[in-house]
Amino acid sequence: MLSAAFAIEKKGIDSDMKVLLVNGSPHEHGATYTAMTVIAESLAAEGIESEIFWIGNQAVGGCMGCGYCRKEKRCVRNDSVNELSPRLAEFDGFVFGSAVHYAASSGALSSFMDRLFYMNSFAMRFKPAASVVSCRRGGATAAFDEINKYFTISEMPIVSSNYWNQIHGSNAEEAMQDTEGVQTMRLLGRNMAYVIKAFAAAKEAGICPPEREKKTMTNFIR
Ligand SMILES: Cc1cc2nc3c(=O)[nH]c(=O)nc-3n(C[C@H](O)[C@H](O)[C@H](O)COP(=O)(O)O)c2cc1C
Repeated sequence: MLSAAFAIEKKGIDSDMKVLLVNGSPHEHGATYTAMTVIAESLAAEGIESEIFWIGNQAVGGCMGCGYCRKEKRCVRNDSVNELSPRLAEFDGFVFGSAVHYAASSGALSSFMDRLFYMNSFAMRFKPAASVVSCRRGGATAAFDEINKYFTISEMPIVSSNYWNQIHGSNAEEAMQDTEGVQTMRLLGRNMAYVIKAFAAAKEAGICPPEREKKTMTNFIR
Protein backbone atom coordinates (compact mmCIF):
# COMPACT_ATOMS: atom_id res chain seq x y z
CA MET A 1 0.00 0.00 0.00
CA LEU A 2 1.53 3.30 -1.05
CA SER A 3 1.26 6.24 1.29
CA ALA A 4 2.19 8.91 -1.27
CA ALA A 5 0.24 9.91 -4.36
CA PHE A 6 2.63 9.84 -7.26
CA ALA A 7 2.48 9.51 -11.02
CA ILE A 8 4.50 8.02 -13.84
CA GLU A 9 4.36 9.48 -17.31
CA LYS A 10 6.12 7.99 -20.34
CA LYS A 11 7.58 10.38 -22.88
CA GLY A 12 9.12 10.06 -26.30
CA ILE A 13 9.68 6.96 -28.31
CA ASP A 14 10.39 3.33 -27.59
CA SER A 15 14.12 2.75 -27.54
CA ASP A 16 16.59 0.63 -25.63
CA MET A 17 17.99 3.69 -23.85
CA LYS A 18 15.93 5.39 -21.23
CA VAL A 19 16.23 8.33 -18.85
CA LEU A 20 14.34 8.74 -15.60
CA LEU A 21 13.27 12.25 -14.62
CA VAL A 22 12.16 12.55 -11.00
CA ASN A 23 9.89 15.54 -10.42
CA GLY A 24 10.32 16.57 -6.79
CA SER A 25 7.87 19.48 -6.91
CA PRO A 26 4.53 19.31 -5.10
CA HIS A 27 2.97 20.38 -8.42
CA GLU A 28 2.54 17.56 -10.88
CA HIS A 29 2.48 19.85 -13.91
CA GLY A 30 4.23 23.01 -12.71
CA ALA A 31 7.45 24.76 -13.65
CA THR A 32 9.72 21.82 -12.73
CA TYR A 33 7.61 19.45 -14.81
CA THR A 34 7.74 21.91 -17.72
CA ALA A 35 11.55 21.95 -17.60
CA MET A 36 11.46 18.15 -17.61
CA THR A 37 9.20 18.00 -20.66
CA VAL A 38 11.71 20.15 -22.57
CA ILE A 39 14.50 17.75 -21.57
CA ALA A 40 12.31 14.75 -22.51
CA GLU A 41 11.58 16.22 -25.96
CA SER A 42 15.25 16.86 -26.51
CA LEU A 43 16.10 13.27 -25.52
CA ALA A 44 13.37 11.96 -27.82
CA ALA A 45 14.87 13.96 -30.71
CA GLU A 46 18.08 12.00 -30.05
CA GLY A 47 16.20 8.67 -29.96
CA ILE A 48 16.14 8.27 -26.19
CA GLU A 49 13.00 7.41 -24.27
CA SER A 50 12.21 8.98 -20.92
CA GLU A 51 9.87 8.64 -18.02
CA ILE A 52 8.78 11.36 -15.61
CA PHE A 53 8.23 10.09 -12.09
CA TRP A 54 6.37 12.56 -9.86
CA ILE A 55 7.06 11.92 -6.20
CA GLY A 56 3.62 13.22 -5.30
CA ASN A 57 2.28 15.85 -2.98
CA GLN A 58 1.81 13.74 0.12
CA ALA A 59 4.30 13.75 2.96
CA VAL A 60 7.52 11.88 2.18
CA GLY A 61 9.05 10.80 5.46
CA GLY A 62 12.74 11.31 6.08
CA CYS A 63 15.37 8.62 6.58
CA MET A 64 15.27 7.24 10.11
CA GLY A 65 18.79 5.78 9.86
CA CYS A 66 17.43 2.46 11.12
CA GLY A 67 19.51 0.30 8.75
CA TYR A 68 16.48 -1.76 7.66
CA CYS A 69 17.32 -1.14 3.97
CA ARG A 70 20.84 -2.51 4.42
CA LYS A 71 19.37 -5.92 5.22
CA GLU A 72 16.06 -5.94 3.37
CA LYS A 73 16.93 -3.84 0.27
CA ARG A 74 13.77 -1.81 0.79
CA CYS A 75 12.81 1.05 3.07
CA VAL A 76 10.86 0.46 6.25
CA ARG A 77 8.63 3.35 5.09
CA ASN A 78 6.66 1.68 2.31
CA ASP A 79 6.01 4.48 -0.16
CA SER A 80 7.05 5.67 -3.63
CA VAL A 81 10.76 5.26 -2.76
CA ASN A 82 10.21 1.50 -2.55
CA GLU A 83 8.25 1.67 -5.79
CA LEU A 84 11.13 3.29 -7.67
CA SER A 85 14.22 1.68 -6.12
CA PRO A 86 13.92 -1.77 -7.78
CA ARG A 87 13.42 -0.07 -11.17
CA LEU A 88 16.64 2.00 -11.15
CA ALA A 89 18.56 -0.60 -13.15
CA GLU A 90 16.19 0.00 -16.10
CA PHE A 91 17.54 3.50 -16.72
CA ASP A 92 20.67 4.78 -18.45
CA GLY A 93 20.54 8.31 -17.05
CA PHE A 94 18.86 10.29 -14.31
CA VAL A 95 17.50 13.79 -13.82
CA PHE A 96 16.31 14.90 -10.40
CA GLY A 97 14.36 18.15 -10.32
CA SER A 98 12.84 20.38 -7.72
CA ALA A 99 11.02 23.62 -7.18
CA VAL A 100 13.24 25.89 -5.09
CA HIS A 101 11.90 26.11 -1.54
CA TYR A 102 13.73 28.64 0.63
CA ALA A 103 16.85 28.44 -1.53
CA ALA A 104 16.94 24.64 -1.26
CA SER A 105 15.29 21.64 -2.87
CA SER A 106 11.79 20.76 -1.68
CA GLY A 107 11.71 18.99 1.68
CA ALA A 108 9.94 16.07 0.02
CA LEU A 109 12.64 15.61 -2.64
CA SER A 110 15.37 15.87 -0.05
CA SER A 111 13.75 13.08 2.01
CA PHE A 112 13.07 11.06 -1.13
CA MET A 113 16.69 11.29 -2.32
CA ASP A 114 18.15 10.62 1.15
CA ARG A 115 16.31 7.32 1.28
CA LEU A 116 16.69 6.32 -2.37
CA PHE A 117 20.44 6.98 -2.46
CA TYR A 118 21.13 5.45 0.98
CA MET A 119 19.26 2.34 -0.07
CA ASN A 120 20.32 1.85 -3.68
CA SER A 121 22.72 4.41 -5.16
CA PHE A 122 24.77 1.48 -6.46
CA ALA A 123 22.13 0.91 -9.17
CA MET A 124 22.93 4.39 -10.52
CA ARG A 125 26.73 4.14 -10.34
CA PHE A 126 28.45 5.44 -13.51
CA LYS A 127 25.15 6.48 -15.03
CA PRO A 128 25.02 10.14 -16.07
CA ALA A 129 22.96 12.46 -13.91
CA ALA A 130 21.75 16.03 -13.80
CA SER A 131 19.78 18.20 -11.44
CA VAL A 132 17.28 20.84 -12.53
CA VAL A 133 15.60 23.49 -10.44
CA SER A 134 12.77 25.94 -10.96
CA CYS A 135 12.21 29.10 -9.01
CA ARG A 136 10.40 32.37 -9.15
CA ARG A 137 13.47 34.50 -8.47
CA GLY A 138 16.36 33.34 -6.27
CA GLY A 139 18.08 30.44 -4.56
CA ALA A 140 18.39 28.31 -7.69
CA THR A 141 22.12 27.60 -7.56
CA ALA A 142 22.01 26.64 -3.87
CA ALA A 143 19.30 24.06 -4.62
CA PHE A 144 21.19 22.93 -7.74
CA ASP A 145 24.36 22.37 -5.69
CA GLU A 146 22.41 20.47 -3.06
CA ILE A 147 20.96 17.97 -5.53
CA ASN A 148 24.31 17.52 -7.33
CA LYS A 149 25.90 16.37 -4.08
CA TYR A 150 23.95 13.09 -4.21
CA PHE A 151 25.62 12.33 -7.56
CA THR A 152 29.14 13.25 -6.56
CA ILE A 153 29.13 10.84 -3.59
CA SER A 154 27.72 8.06 -5.78
CA GLU A 155 30.26 7.93 -8.65
CA MET A 156 27.68 9.37 -11.05
CA PRO A 157 29.09 11.60 -13.81
CA ILE A 158 27.27 14.93 -13.98
CA VAL A 159 25.97 16.21 -17.31
CA SER A 160 25.87 19.97 -17.77
CA SER A 161 24.35 22.52 -20.11
CA ASN A 162 25.44 26.02 -21.16
CA TYR A 163 24.15 27.49 -17.87
CA TRP A 164 23.31 26.11 -14.43
CA ASN A 165 20.15 24.06 -14.93
CA GLN A 166 17.52 26.50 -13.75
CA ILE A 167 14.25 27.78 -15.13
CA HIS A 168 12.38 30.78 -13.79
CA GLY A 169 8.64 31.18 -13.23
CA SER A 170 5.93 30.39 -10.74
CA ASN A 171 4.12 27.93 -12.98
CA ALA A 172 4.29 26.09 -16.30
CA GLU A 173 3.24 29.08 -18.42
CA GLU A 174 5.79 31.43 -16.88
CA ALA A 175 8.54 28.83 -17.14
CA MET A 176 8.02 28.56 -20.90
CA GLN A 177 8.50 32.34 -21.16
CA ASP A 178 12.02 31.95 -19.73
CA THR A 179 13.54 31.27 -23.13
CA GLU A 180 17.07 31.10 -21.75
CA GLY A 181 15.96 28.50 -19.18
CA VAL A 182 14.19 26.56 -21.94
CA GLN A 183 17.39 26.56 -24.00
CA THR A 184 19.36 25.38 -20.95
CA MET A 185 17.00 22.41 -20.59
CA ARG A 186 16.99 21.60 -24.30
CA LEU A 187 20.78 21.53 -24.41
CA LEU A 188 20.89 19.51 -21.21
CA GLY A 189 18.73 16.81 -22.85
CA ARG A 190 20.93 16.83 -25.94
CA ASN A 191 24.12 16.65 -23.89
CA MET A 192 22.77 13.83 -21.76
CA ALA A 193 21.88 11.86 -24.89
CA TYR A 194 25.46 12.32 -26.13
CA VAL A 195 26.98 11.11 -22.85
CA ILE A 196 24.65 8.10 -22.66
CA LYS A 197 25.52 7.11 -26.24
CA ALA A 198 29.24 7.64 -25.60
CA PHE A 199 29.08 5.38 -22.52
CA ALA A 200 27.21 2.72 -24.51
CA ALA A 201 29.86 2.89 -27.27
CA ALA A 202 32.62 2.61 -24.66
CA LYS A 203 30.97 -0.50 -23.24
CA GLU A 204 30.74 -2.00 -26.74
CA ALA A 205 34.48 -1.37 -27.09
CA GLY A 206 35.14 -3.17 -23.81
CA ILE A 207 35.69 -0.06 -21.70
CA CYS A 208 33.69 -0.64 -18.55
CA PRO A 209 33.31 1.33 -15.29
CA PRO A 210 36.17 0.76 -12.85
CA GLU A 211 35.71 -1.83 -10.11
CA ARG A 212 33.97 -0.64 -7.02
CA GLU A 213 36.28 -0.24 -4.02
CA LYS A 214 35.30 -0.99 -0.47
CA LYS A 215 34.87 2.35 1.24
CA THR A 216 37.39 3.45 3.85
CA MET A 217 35.48 5.17 6.66
CA THR A 218 37.57 6.93 9.27
CA ASN A 219 34.74 8.90 10.91
CA PHE A 220 37.38 11.53 11.74
CA ILE A 221 38.83 9.22 14.40
CA ARG A 222 42.65 8.97 14.61
C1 LIG B 1 7.53 26.83 0.38
C2 LIG B 1 7.99 27.57 -0.85
C3 LIG B 1 9.21 28.20 -0.82
C4 LIG B 1 9.67 28.87 -1.95
N1 LIG B 1 10.90 29.44 -1.92
C5 LIG B 1 11.37 30.08 -3.03
C6 LIG B 1 12.68 30.62 -3.05
O1 LIG B 1 13.46 30.50 -2.12
N2 LIG B 1 13.06 31.29 -4.16
C7 LIG B 1 12.24 31.45 -5.24
O2 LIG B 1 12.63 32.07 -6.22
N3 LIG B 1 11.01 30.89 -5.28
C8 LIG B 1 10.56 30.21 -4.20
N4 LIG B 1 9.33 29.61 -4.23
C9 LIG B 1 8.57 29.63 -5.50
C10 LIG B 1 8.81 28.36 -6.31
O3 LIG B 1 10.16 27.96 -6.32
C11 LIG B 1 8.43 28.59 -7.78
O4 LIG B 1 7.12 29.01 -7.84
C12 LIG B 1 8.66 27.33 -8.61
O5 LIG B 1 8.85 27.69 -9.93
C13 LIG B 1 7.50 26.39 -8.53
O6 LIG B 1 7.81 25.23 -9.29
P1 LIG B 1 6.69 24.08 -9.44
O7 LIG B 1 5.59 24.69 -10.27
O8 LIG B 1 7.37 22.96 -10.13
O9 LIG B 1 6.27 23.75 -8.06
C14 LIG B 1 8.86 28.95 -3.12
C15 LIG B 1 7.63 28.29 -3.13
C16 LIG B 1 7.19 27.62 -2.01
C17 LIG B 1 5.85 26.91 -2.06
